[in-house]
Amino acid sequence: MRLLSVVGARPQFVKLAPVGAAARQAGHEHLVLHTGQHYDANMSDAFFDDLEIPEPDINLEIGSGRHGAQTAAMLEGIETYLIEREPDCVVVYGDTNSTIAAAIAAVKLHIPIAHVEAGLRSKNRKMPEEHNRVVTDHCSDLLLAPTQTAMQHLSAEGLSERSRLVGDVMFDVFTLVRESISPNDDYAATSGEYALATIHRQENTDDRQRLSEILEALAVMPIPVILPAHPRLVAKTNEYGVNLETGAIKLVTPLGYPDLVSCLVNARSVITDSGGLQKEAFFAGVPCTTVRTETEWVETLEDNWNVLVSNLGNLSDLALRSKPEVAQRPLYGLGDAGVKSIQAIESLL
Ligand code: UD1
Repeated sequence: MRLLSVVGARPQFVKLAPVGAAARQAGHEHLVLHTGQHYDANMSDAFFDDLEIPEPDINLEIGSGRHGAQTAAMLEGIETYLIEREPDCVVVYGDTNSTIAAAIAAVKLHIPIAHVEAGLRSKNRKMPEEHNRVVTDHCSDLLLAPTQTAMQHLSAEGLSERSRLVGDVMFDVFTLVRESISPNDDYAATSGEYALATIHRQENTDDRQRLSEILEALAVMPIPVILPAHPRLVAKTNEYGVNLETGAIKLVTPLGYPDLVSCLVNARSVITDSGGLQKEAFFAGVPCTTVRTETEWVETLEDNWNVLVSNLGNLSDLALRSKPEVAQRPLYGLGDAGVKSIQAIESLL
Protein backbone atom coordinates (compact mmCIF):
# COMPACT_ATOMS: atom_id res chain seq x y z
CA MET A 1 0.00 0.00 0.00
CA ARG A 2 1.31 3.47 -0.85
CA LEU A 3 0.40 6.09 1.75
CA LEU A 4 1.05 9.77 1.35
CA SER A 5 1.07 12.01 4.42
CA VAL A 6 0.66 15.75 3.96
CA VAL A 7 2.07 17.98 6.70
CA GLY A 8 3.18 21.60 6.87
CA ALA A 9 2.98 23.07 10.37
CA ARG A 10 4.71 22.25 13.63
CA PRO A 11 1.97 20.23 15.39
CA GLN A 12 1.60 18.05 12.31
CA PHE A 13 5.20 16.88 12.42
CA VAL A 14 4.56 15.61 15.95
CA LYS A 15 1.40 13.76 14.83
CA LEU A 16 3.15 12.32 11.77
CA ALA A 17 5.87 10.63 13.89
CA PRO A 18 3.80 7.73 15.35
CA VAL A 19 1.74 7.21 12.19
CA GLY A 20 4.90 7.12 10.05
CA ALA A 21 6.58 4.67 12.44
CA ALA A 22 3.53 2.38 12.38
CA ALA A 23 3.35 2.51 8.56
CA ARG A 24 7.03 1.59 8.36
CA GLN A 25 6.59 -1.30 10.79
CA ALA A 26 3.65 -2.64 8.80
CA GLY A 27 5.80 -2.59 5.63
CA HIS A 28 3.87 0.08 3.71
CA GLU A 29 5.42 2.58 1.34
CA HIS A 30 5.01 5.99 2.97
CA LEU A 31 5.64 9.26 1.14
CA VAL A 32 5.69 12.59 2.98
CA LEU A 33 4.76 15.89 1.36
CA HIS A 34 5.72 19.02 3.36
CA THR A 35 3.83 22.09 2.17
CA GLY A 36 6.43 24.44 3.67
CA GLN A 37 3.79 26.32 5.71
CA HIS A 38 6.34 26.35 8.54
CA TYR A 39 9.89 26.89 7.33
CA ASP A 40 12.05 28.19 10.21
CA ALA A 41 14.50 25.48 11.29
CA ASN A 42 13.18 25.48 14.86
CA MET A 43 9.56 25.24 13.64
CA SER A 44 10.22 22.43 11.17
CA ASP A 45 13.60 20.66 10.67
CA ALA A 46 14.20 20.24 14.41
CA PHE A 47 11.05 18.12 14.70
CA PHE A 48 12.05 15.80 11.87
CA ASP A 49 15.46 15.31 13.50
CA ASP A 50 14.29 14.90 17.11
CA LEU A 51 11.38 12.61 16.30
CA GLU A 52 13.40 10.60 13.76
CA ILE A 53 10.97 11.26 10.93
CA PRO A 54 12.52 10.56 7.50
CA GLU A 55 13.11 13.65 5.32
CA PRO A 56 10.01 14.71 3.35
CA ASP A 57 9.93 13.34 -0.20
CA ILE A 58 8.93 16.78 -1.43
CA ASN A 59 8.74 20.26 0.11
CA LEU A 60 6.48 22.70 -1.74
CA GLU A 61 8.04 25.67 0.12
CA ILE A 62 4.79 27.62 0.09
CA GLY A 63 5.65 29.68 3.20
CA SER A 64 3.41 32.29 4.82
CA GLY A 65 0.55 34.24 3.28
CA ARG A 66 -3.10 35.19 3.56
CA HIS A 67 -5.33 32.18 4.21
CA GLY A 68 -6.79 32.04 0.70
CA ALA A 69 -3.54 32.62 -1.17
CA GLN A 70 -1.57 30.21 1.03
CA THR A 71 -4.19 27.44 0.85
CA ALA A 72 -4.63 27.87 -2.92
CA ALA A 73 -0.89 27.57 -3.57
CA MET A 74 -0.79 24.40 -1.47
CA LEU A 75 -3.81 22.93 -3.23
CA GLU A 76 -2.21 23.36 -6.64
CA GLY A 77 1.13 21.87 -5.57
CA ILE A 78 -0.45 18.93 -3.75
CA GLU A 79 -2.74 18.10 -6.68
CA THR A 80 0.24 17.92 -9.06
CA TYR A 81 2.13 15.60 -6.71
CA LEU A 82 -0.89 13.34 -6.16
CA ILE A 83 -1.34 12.92 -9.92
CA GLU A 84 2.36 12.08 -10.25
CA ARG A 85 2.61 9.59 -7.35
CA GLU A 86 -0.88 8.02 -7.34
CA PRO A 87 -1.06 7.09 -3.63
CA ASP A 88 -3.65 4.57 -2.39
CA CYS A 89 -4.54 6.85 0.51
CA VAL A 90 -3.75 10.42 1.57
CA VAL A 91 -3.29 10.94 5.31
CA VAL A 92 -3.97 14.42 6.69
CA TYR A 93 -3.41 15.68 10.24
CA GLY A 94 -5.20 18.14 12.52
CA ASP A 95 -6.65 21.41 11.37
CA THR A 96 -4.20 23.69 9.59
CA ASN A 97 -4.36 25.22 6.13
CA SER A 98 -2.10 22.36 4.96
CA THR A 99 -4.78 19.89 6.14
CA ILE A 100 -7.68 21.45 4.24
CA ALA A 101 -5.58 21.95 1.09
CA ALA A 102 -4.64 18.26 1.02
CA ALA A 103 -8.20 17.13 1.70
CA ILE A 104 -9.62 19.21 -1.15
CA ALA A 105 -6.88 18.11 -3.57
CA ALA A 106 -7.40 14.41 -2.76
CA VAL A 107 -11.21 14.38 -2.72
CA LYS A 108 -11.31 15.96 -6.20
CA LEU A 109 -9.05 13.17 -7.50
CA HIS A 110 -11.15 10.47 -5.78
CA ILE A 111 -8.22 9.34 -3.64
CA PRO A 112 -9.28 7.95 -0.23
CA ILE A 113 -8.45 10.31 2.66
CA ALA A 114 -7.75 9.39 6.28
CA HIS A 115 -7.99 12.27 8.76
CA VAL A 116 -5.89 11.92 11.92
CA GLU A 117 -7.42 13.90 14.81
CA ALA A 118 -10.88 14.01 13.28
CA GLY A 119 -14.02 15.24 15.03
CA LEU A 120 -12.67 18.15 17.06
CA ARG A 121 -14.96 21.15 17.26
CA SER A 122 -14.66 24.47 19.07
CA LYS A 123 -18.01 25.69 17.67
CA ASN A 124 -16.21 29.02 17.14
CA ARG A 125 -16.82 29.84 13.48
CA LYS A 126 -14.27 32.66 13.57
CA MET A 127 -11.34 30.28 14.08
CA PRO A 128 -9.56 29.36 10.84
CA GLU A 129 -8.91 25.92 12.33
CA GLU A 130 -12.64 25.30 12.79
CA HIS A 131 -13.33 25.78 9.07
CA ASN A 132 -10.42 23.50 8.30
CA ARG A 133 -11.70 20.75 10.62
CA VAL A 134 -15.27 20.74 9.36
CA VAL A 135 -14.39 20.75 5.66
CA THR A 136 -11.64 18.15 6.10
CA ASP A 137 -13.89 15.77 8.05
CA HIS A 138 -16.62 15.97 5.41
CA CYS A 139 -14.11 15.33 2.58
CA SER A 140 -12.52 12.34 4.35
CA ASP A 141 -13.30 8.63 3.95
CA LEU A 142 -11.83 7.56 7.29
CA LEU A 143 -12.15 9.71 10.40
CA LEU A 144 -9.58 8.72 13.02
CA ALA A 145 -10.98 10.20 16.20
CA PRO A 146 -8.85 10.76 19.32
CA THR A 147 -11.66 10.81 21.90
CA GLN A 148 -15.23 9.79 22.59
CA THR A 149 -16.24 13.47 22.41
CA ALA A 150 -14.82 13.66 18.89
CA MET A 151 -16.85 10.56 17.96
CA GLN A 152 -20.00 12.28 19.24
CA HIS A 153 -19.31 15.38 17.13
CA LEU A 154 -18.87 13.22 14.04
CA SER A 155 -22.06 11.33 14.79
CA ALA A 156 -23.98 14.61 15.16
CA GLU A 157 -22.85 15.55 11.64
CA GLY A 158 -23.92 12.20 10.17
CA LEU A 159 -20.36 10.86 9.86
CA SER A 160 -20.53 7.86 12.23
CA GLU A 161 -20.02 5.21 9.57
CA ARG A 162 -16.67 6.66 8.55
CA SER A 163 -15.44 7.21 12.13
CA ARG A 164 -13.07 5.05 14.20
CA LEU A 165 -11.97 5.75 17.77
CA VAL A 166 -8.19 5.14 17.76
CA GLY A 167 -6.96 7.35 20.62
CA ASP A 168 -4.67 10.34 20.45
CA VAL A 169 -1.45 10.11 18.44
CA MET A 170 0.00 12.94 20.55
CA PHE A 171 -0.26 10.71 23.60
CA ASP A 172 1.85 8.10 21.76
CA VAL A 173 4.61 10.64 21.09
CA PHE A 174 4.47 12.28 24.49
CA THR A 175 4.79 8.92 26.29
CA LEU A 176 7.84 7.91 24.25
CA VAL A 177 9.62 11.25 24.50
CA ARG A 178 8.96 11.61 28.21
CA GLU A 179 10.72 8.29 28.84
CA SER A 180 13.77 9.46 26.91
CA ILE A 181 14.43 12.86 28.51
CA SER A 182 17.18 13.33 31.06
CA PRO A 183 16.02 13.88 34.66
CA ASN A 184 19.07 16.13 35.20
CA ASP A 185 18.51 18.84 32.64
CA ASP A 186 18.27 22.61 33.20
CA TYR A 187 14.52 22.56 33.73
CA ALA A 188 14.70 19.82 36.38
CA ALA A 189 17.02 22.07 38.42
CA THR A 190 14.25 24.66 38.84
CA SER A 191 11.37 22.19 38.92
CA GLY A 192 8.10 23.67 40.22
CA GLU A 193 9.40 27.24 40.25
CA TYR A 194 8.26 28.55 36.89
CA ALA A 195 5.30 28.63 34.53
CA LEU A 196 5.48 27.67 30.85
CA ALA A 197 3.48 29.91 28.52
CA THR A 198 2.78 29.95 24.78
CA ILE A 199 0.60 32.40 22.83
CA HIS A 200 0.23 32.23 19.07
CA ARG A 201 -3.42 32.02 18.11
CA GLN A 202 -4.70 34.66 15.72
CA GLU A 203 -7.54 35.72 18.07
CA ASN A 204 -4.92 36.59 20.72
CA THR A 205 -2.07 37.95 18.59
CA ASP A 206 -3.83 39.92 15.87
CA ASP A 207 -5.49 42.49 18.13
CA ARG A 208 -3.09 44.98 19.73
CA GLN A 209 -5.13 45.57 22.88
CA ARG A 210 -5.87 41.88 23.50
CA LEU A 211 -2.22 40.95 23.05
CA SER A 212 -1.02 43.77 25.34
CA GLU A 213 -3.45 42.65 28.06
CA ILE A 214 -2.25 39.04 27.85
CA LEU A 215 1.40 40.07 28.06
CA GLU A 216 0.69 42.39 31.01
CA ALA A 217 -1.07 39.53 32.85
CA LEU A 218 1.94 37.26 32.26
CA ALA A 219 4.42 39.99 33.26
CA VAL A 220 2.91 40.38 36.77
CA MET A 221 3.08 36.66 37.63
CA PRO A 222 4.99 36.08 40.90
CA ILE A 223 7.13 33.31 39.35
CA PRO A 224 9.19 33.36 36.12
CA VAL A 225 7.18 32.67 32.98
CA ILE A 226 9.15 30.87 30.28
CA LEU A 227 7.70 31.99 26.95
CA PRO A 228 8.95 30.17 23.83
CA ALA A 229 7.86 32.72 21.24
CA HIS A 230 6.11 31.57 18.07
CA PRO A 231 7.20 33.67 15.04
CA ARG A 232 3.67 35.10 14.74
CA LEU A 233 3.93 36.48 18.30
CA VAL A 234 7.30 38.07 17.57
CA ALA A 235 6.07 39.53 14.26
CA LYS A 236 2.96 41.01 15.89
CA THR A 237 4.73 42.53 18.91
CA ASN A 238 7.27 44.12 16.54
CA GLU A 239 4.46 45.50 14.40
CA TYR A 240 2.61 46.93 17.43
CA GLY A 241 5.78 48.20 19.16
CA VAL A 242 4.88 46.10 22.26
CA ASN A 243 7.71 44.88 24.50
CA LEU A 244 7.71 41.08 24.77
CA GLU A 245 10.32 40.60 27.45
CA THR A 246 8.93 42.43 30.45
CA GLY A 247 8.41 41.63 34.16
CA ALA A 248 8.26 37.89 34.84
CA ILE A 249 8.42 36.93 31.15
CA LYS A 250 11.57 35.05 30.12
CA LEU A 251 11.58 34.95 26.35
CA VAL A 252 13.11 31.93 24.59
CA THR A 253 13.10 30.75 20.97
CA PRO A 254 10.61 27.97 20.03
CA LEU A 255 11.64 24.71 21.71
CA GLY A 256 12.28 21.38 20.04
CA TYR A 257 9.95 18.61 21.17
CA PRO A 258 12.17 16.92 23.82
CA ASP A 259 13.01 20.34 25.34
CA LEU A 260 9.34 21.29 25.35
CA VAL A 261 8.43 18.04 27.15
CA SER A 262 11.22 18.58 29.66
CA CYS A 263 10.20 22.20 30.30
CA LEU A 264 6.57 21.08 30.64
CA VAL A 265 6.98 18.18 33.06
CA ASN A 266 8.98 20.39 35.43
CA ALA A 267 6.66 23.40 35.24
CA ARG A 268 4.41 24.47 38.10
CA SER A 269 1.79 25.64 35.64
CA VAL A 270 1.04 25.99 31.93
CA ILE A 271 -0.60 29.06 30.37
CA THR A 272 -1.42 28.68 26.69
CA ASP A 273 -3.74 29.10 23.74
CA SER A 274 -2.35 26.03 21.98
CA GLY A 275 -4.63 23.02 21.58
CA GLY A 276 -1.70 20.60 21.71
CA LEU A 277 -0.11 22.06 24.82
CA GLN A 278 -3.40 21.96 26.77
CA LYS A 279 -3.47 18.24 26.24
CA GLU A 280 0.24 17.71 26.84
CA ALA A 281 -0.14 19.54 30.18
CA PHE A 282 -2.90 17.04 31.02
CA PHE A 283 -0.64 14.10 30.03
CA ALA A 284 2.09 15.54 32.26
CA GLY A 285 -0.27 16.18 35.18
CA VAL A 286 0.49 19.93 35.20
CA PRO A 287 -2.45 22.35 35.73
CA CYS A 288 -3.20 24.30 32.56
CA THR A 289 -4.82 27.70 32.14
CA THR A 290 -6.13 28.35 28.65
CA VAL A 291 -6.27 31.87 27.26
CA ARG A 292 -9.34 31.26 25.12
CA THR A 293 -13.12 31.32 25.51
CA GLU A 294 -13.55 27.67 24.48
CA THR A 295 -11.53 24.52 23.97
CA GLU A 296 -11.80 21.52 21.66
CA TRP A 297 -10.30 19.34 24.39
CA VAL A 298 -13.24 19.58 26.76
CA GLU A 299 -12.22 16.46 28.71
CA THR A 300 -9.21 18.37 30.09
CA LEU A 301 -11.62 20.71 31.91
CA GLU A 302 -12.78 17.88 34.20
CA ASP A 303 -11.62 18.38 37.79
CA ASN A 304 -10.01 21.69 36.76
CA TRP A 305 -6.91 20.17 35.19
CA ASN A 306 -7.55 22.84 32.58
CA VAL A 307 -9.39 26.13 33.15
CA LEU A 308 -10.48 28.73 30.59
CA VAL A 309 -9.64 32.35 31.45
CA SER A 310 -12.48 34.79 30.99
CA ASN A 311 -10.93 37.64 33.00
CA LEU A 312 -7.23 38.24 32.46
CA GLY A 313 -7.06 40.06 35.81
CA ASN A 314 -7.41 36.61 37.48
CA LEU A 315 -4.76 34.91 35.38
CA SER A 316 -2.10 34.74 38.05
CA ASP A 317 -4.43 33.31 40.74
CA LEU A 318 -5.91 30.81 38.33
CA ALA A 319 -2.57 29.68 36.99
CA LEU A 320 -1.15 29.14 40.47
CA ARG A 321 -4.16 27.18 41.78
CA SER A 322 -3.30 23.90 43.49
CA LYS A 323 -3.00 20.73 41.53
CA PRO A 324 -6.20 18.63 41.49
CA GLU A 325 -6.01 15.76 43.95
CA VAL A 326 -8.17 13.34 41.97
CA ALA A 327 -6.56 10.83 39.63
CA GLN A 328 -6.95 11.49 35.91
CA ARG A 329 -9.02 9.20 33.71
CA PRO A 330 -7.16 7.68 30.72
CA LEU A 331 -9.01 9.73 28.12
CA TYR A 332 -6.60 9.69 25.22
CA GLY A 333 -5.97 6.01 24.55
CA LEU A 334 -3.15 3.64 25.38
CA GLY A 335 -0.28 5.10 23.38
CA ASP A 336 -1.03 2.92 20.33
CA ALA A 337 -3.09 5.38 18.27
CA GLY A 338 -0.50 5.38 15.44
CA VAL A 339 -0.71 1.58 15.08
CA LYS A 340 -4.51 1.62 15.28
CA SER A 341 -4.66 4.37 12.63
CA ILE A 342 -2.64 2.27 10.18
CA GLN A 343 -4.80 -0.80 10.92
CA ALA A 344 -7.93 1.26 10.23
CA ILE A 345 -6.45 2.48 6.93
CA GLU A 346 -5.63 -1.14 5.97
CA SER A 347 -9.26 -2.13 6.64
CA LEU A 348 -10.57 0.80 4.61
CA LEU A 349 -8.55 -0.16 1.56
C1 UD1 B 1 -0.61 27.43 12.18
C2 UD1 B 1 -1.99 26.81 12.21
C3 UD1 B 1 -2.42 26.63 13.67
C4 UD1 B 1 -1.38 25.87 14.48
C5 UD1 B 1 -0.05 26.58 14.32
C6 UD1 B 1 1.04 25.86 15.06
C7 UD1 B 1 -3.44 27.45 10.33
C8 UD1 B 1 -4.64 28.22 9.94
N1 UD1 B 1 -2.99 27.66 11.59
O1 UD1 B 1 -0.74 28.75 12.73
O2 UD1 B 1 -3.62 25.88 13.69
O3 UD1 B 1 -1.76 25.85 15.83
O4 UD1 B 1 0.28 26.63 12.92
O5 UD1 B 1 2.19 26.62 15.14
O6 UD1 B 1 -2.93 26.69 9.54
N2 UD1 B 1 6.12 32.25 10.62
C9 UD1 B 1 7.49 32.31 10.51
N3 UD1 B 1 8.18 31.13 10.34
C10 UD1 B 1 7.56 29.93 10.26
C11 UD1 B 1 6.18 29.88 10.36
C12 UD1 B 1 5.46 31.04 10.54
O7 UD1 B 1 8.09 33.37 10.58
O8 UD1 B 1 8.27 28.91 10.12
C13 UD1 B 1 5.36 33.50 10.88
C14 UD1 B 1 4.96 34.29 9.67
O9 UD1 B 1 4.97 35.64 10.04
C15 UD1 B 1 3.53 33.84 9.44
C16 UD1 B 1 3.03 33.66 10.86
O10 UD1 B 1 4.15 33.16 11.57
O11 UD1 B 1 2.80 34.77 8.72
C17 UD1 B 1 1.89 32.69 10.99
O12 UD1 B 1 2.21 31.43 10.40
P1 UD1 B 1 1.06 30.51 9.77
O13 UD1 B 1 1.63 29.23 9.30
O14 UD1 B 1 0.27 31.28 8.78
O15 UD1 B 1 0.08 30.23 10.98
P2 UD1 B 1 0.39 29.84 12.49
O16 UD1 B 1 0.05 31.01 13.33
O17 UD1 B 1 1.75 29.24 12.67
